[in-house]
Amino acid sequence: MDTRRGCGRCWLLLGVVVLLAAAIGYRLLTGAHTHTGSDGRAEIALAPEDRDLVLAEMRTFLGAVQGITDALTKEDLQIVAQQARGVGAAAIGQVPPSLMQALPLEFKTLGRSVHADFDQLALDAEQLGDPANSLQQLSGILGKCVACHATYRFTAATDGR
Ligand code: HEC
Repeated sequence: MDTRRGCGRCWLLLGVVVLLAAAIGYRLLTGAHTHTGSDGRAEIALAPEDRDLVLAEMRTFLGAVQGITDALTKEDLQIVAQQARGVGAAAIGQVPPSLMQALPLEFKTLGRSVHADFDQLALDAEQLGDPANSLQQLSGILGKCVACHATYRFTAATDGR
């Protein structure tokens, strides 16, 4: 009788452990949950220093877009490549674990793909030397900037979320 009761507890404990492990694994894999904000976009709650980091990266993106556009008006594809490579995959700095966990998986995937697209733009600018092609690639990248901005916004992380 006692052993049966003990075993029942074992199963319960095992169940709880499995559920916890699954929850932690899921959370690490998919990143944080988001809330729908007042403007309908998904809100990602970030600590101030994480938010500063991402927004600084965003401004670097915008600077590169400006640099590429300017170089394209002069048909200087060396500068186009240089500007694009500056925000390529190599530019992804050390991502703090807190930020890694706070960003949803789709956000990270989309962000990485934008860096990869800039690398491709740089490579093609050098190898094809075709401004029209570079402009088309830039337009495709801008479509991703627009899509992400339409989907997400940042808010300050507070204890309740
Ligand atoms: C994976 C999602 C994502 C992608 C891709 C993305 N952004 Fe952003 N960006 C954001 C979010 C979220 C914000 C914050 C918006 C808010 O809180 O309202 C932001 C903010 C910005 C800001 C404001 C920075 C500041 O200091 O306030 C600029 C500029 C910007 N992005 C430029 C770009 C450009 C240019 C691209 C494309 C080359 C780009 N972003 C691609 C998600 C993204």
